[in-house]
Amino acid sequence: MKETFDTSVIEELPHGVIAFDNSSRVRLINRSAQEFFGVNKCDQITDLASFFQFAQALPELLKILEENTKKEKSFDLVNITYENFYLNIQARFFKEGFILTFSDNTSVKETELKALHTLLKVLEKEKKRLATEIHDGIGPTLSAVKLNLQIVQSELQVIEAGTVKRLEDTYKLIDDLSDDMRSISHALLPKVLIDFGLIAAMENLCERVEEVSKVKVEFIGPTSLSKKVDYNMELNLYRIAQELFNNTLKYAEAGKVTVKLSTEDSSLEMIYTDDGKGFDVQAPSHGIGLLNMKTRVRAMKGKFIINSGPGKGVKAEITVPTKRE
Ligand SMILES: Nc1ncnc2c1ncn2[C@@H]1O[C@H](COP(=O)(O)OP(=O)(O)O)[C@@H](O)[C@H]1O
Ligand SMILES: [Mg+2]
Repeated sequence: MKETFDTSVIEELPHGVIAFDNSSRVRLINRSAQEFFGVNKCDQITDLASFFQFAQALPELLKILEENTKKEKSFDLVNITYENFYLNIQARFFKEGFILTFSDNTSVKETELKALHTLLKVLEKEKKRLATEIHDGIGPTLSAVKLNLQIVQSELQVIEAGTVKRLEDTYKLIDDLSDDMRSISHALLPKVLIDFGLIAAMENLCERVEEVSKVKVEFIGPTSLSKKVDYNMELNLYRIAQELFNNTLKYAEAGKVTVKLSTEDSSLEMIYTDDGKGFDVQAPSHGIGLLNMKTRVRAMKGKFIINSGPGKGVKAEITVPTKRE
């Protein structure tokens, strides 16, 4: 392209720009775009087809591009991640062709992620506090109440059969309450996770769900994780599984749940399925469970895909990177 004032301006823009003409040939890749994608790669991008080839690494962008370039429709700010960048991408169509603009949103994202981490940490700390309070405070008090009643019973000289029955019912109520307290405290603070790690905790969670419900639960996973996974990541995945189970038990009327954990070179994947009645994932919802799961996955820079539909059960796939950059 002829060096004009206009092209020099485009060259020097802090935003990446790739311009295509009407025959989908690349007319310009400015300096910032070359910096994002690497000069070598940019040399290979000569037309839309070769850009598509390159964009295989950016499946979200590819999908949007394929949909929109056919209709020559502009689109605004798609957020995608590329290597360690968070990019905002815009497309504009003109008579002469179209341009893609890329802006680097990485520092904003990093700040957002830090805030998310802090939020999740505070949440978990609060859960821990509650769990300790229930376990160390309410638990022993309940035991003391039961013991006192038993002492009073033993000290009574004459006691009617009806009263004995009522006392026994009360002991049973106290025991039930104590069990409930224990499961609440366990749900708040997963001790198995802290002591034995993710695999053991997941197995334990699956077993407990099977015990308290009619749902058959299968856990598929390695006996241990080959790589040391960050505790916060383990906790996040565990929390996500807990919420997925909650939802299945609450809404799905499922017969079977499968939880599969697997590790790749630099990622950890969890696939959760239930064979229940499913739901429309596009429908607006007032719940916060799904939102929380997405937030946790985002904090781990991972991917969250949930597939469902009426009568189709639920499939949730979570992939998180395990290698720290
Ligand atoms: N496994 C599931 N089976 C059927 N419906 C589900 C399932 N998981 C979620 N849903 C639906 O999605 C909605 C949103 O879930 P969620 O965000 O966890 O909110 P909440 O559980 O507080 O309602 C639920 O109200 C329910 O209608
Ligand atoms: Mg829920």
